[in-house]
Amino acid sequence: MTLEELLASAREALDHITTAGTEENLEQARVKYLGRKGLITQALRSLGSLPVEVRPQFGQEANRLKKLLEQHLEAAQERLKKAALAAEAVAVLDVTLPGRQQDVGRLHPITQITREICDIFIRMGFQVVEGPEVETDYYNFEALNIPKDHPARDMQDTFYISDNIVLRTHTSPMQVRVMEQQQPPVRIIAPGKTFRRDSDLTHTPMFHQVEGLLVDKDISFADLKGVLTLFVHEMFGPAVGLRFRPSFFPFTEPSAEVDIQCVICRGSGCRVCSQTGWLEILGSGMVDPEVFRFVNYDPEVYVGFAFGLGIERIAMLKFGIDDLRLFFDNDLRFLKQF
Ligand code: PHE
Repeated sequence: MTLEELLASAREALDHITTAGTEENLEQARVKYLGRKGLITQALRSLGSLPVEVRPQFGQEANRLKKLLEQHLEAAQERLKKAALAAEAVAVLDVTLPGRQQDVGRLHPITQITREICDIFIRMGFQVVEGPEVETDYYNFEALNIPKDHPARDMQDTFYISDNIVLRTHTSPMQVRVMEQQQPPVRIIAPGKTFRRDSDLTHTPMFHQVEGLLVDKDISFADLKGVLTLFVHEMFGPAVGLRFRPSFFPFTEPSAEVDIQCVICRGSGCRVCSQTGWLEILGSGMVDPEVFRFVNYDPEVYVGFAFGLGIERIAMLKFGIDDLRLFFDNDLRFLKQF
């Protein structure tokens, strides 16, 4: 083979390699020119049969061309591989499809309202504490001045783990737990789950309360009214009226239930407020001196007030929901609205 012939076949090889449209075509070109029996390989092998004087130049040239072709071959392989991948992607990727939505989580409406309630009391200097949902009879009833045979127990029947262990019926046991742990002044709120043997349109066996307790010297019913009025106005707006209705709890004396003007009908009377114009949202009162005796506070020195708010009630009013059970069905169509 002459140098001219070598150059000619190299040119031809380069042409094949750079224009190969498929990986198969390229492989054919590689075998034809650079394979074991390929033209370039043959040329190098035939070196020995060439006149001695042309051998070095021919050898050099053949090696240079071999390397050059190998480089082009590699580049072409890369190019075809990329093209093949892109073609595959196009086959499975339809850019005209609508995007896939990322679901963003959110807080349960009860959690939202609990936080909102706590925030209002935190601004008034209350500290948030939490306690057990499985409670002893002592904290849930006894130390709150509700002895074993007291009729007040009938309204708070609950789930008994054993004779002395219950699912707490209210957050009031936290009053006792906190007072056992610290001396006055006390200013706490205690949000959490509570349980009663109740199940109908307006009651679920599990529900939520926020307890409040303030104990100090020179505290009066006016302070109770002030704090709760401020709370209602922060929560529902300053235009909403509220009233304190005399009531009874064994652990407060005197006691009052607080009603707010129905936020649905603005007090004129509707289905939600049973035509009364008012809605009950909490129980409250001045801490009964009997309770102070259980925690060794001196009732001659200290006075306090306490309250217990129903969170679901407030959430229903705030969001305009008329069925309590919706909160616990866990239907996303409902929960996503808040
Ligand atoms: N624990 C009472 C209830 O659940 C509410 C309450 C709390 C009343 C604190 C007075 C003081 O009905």
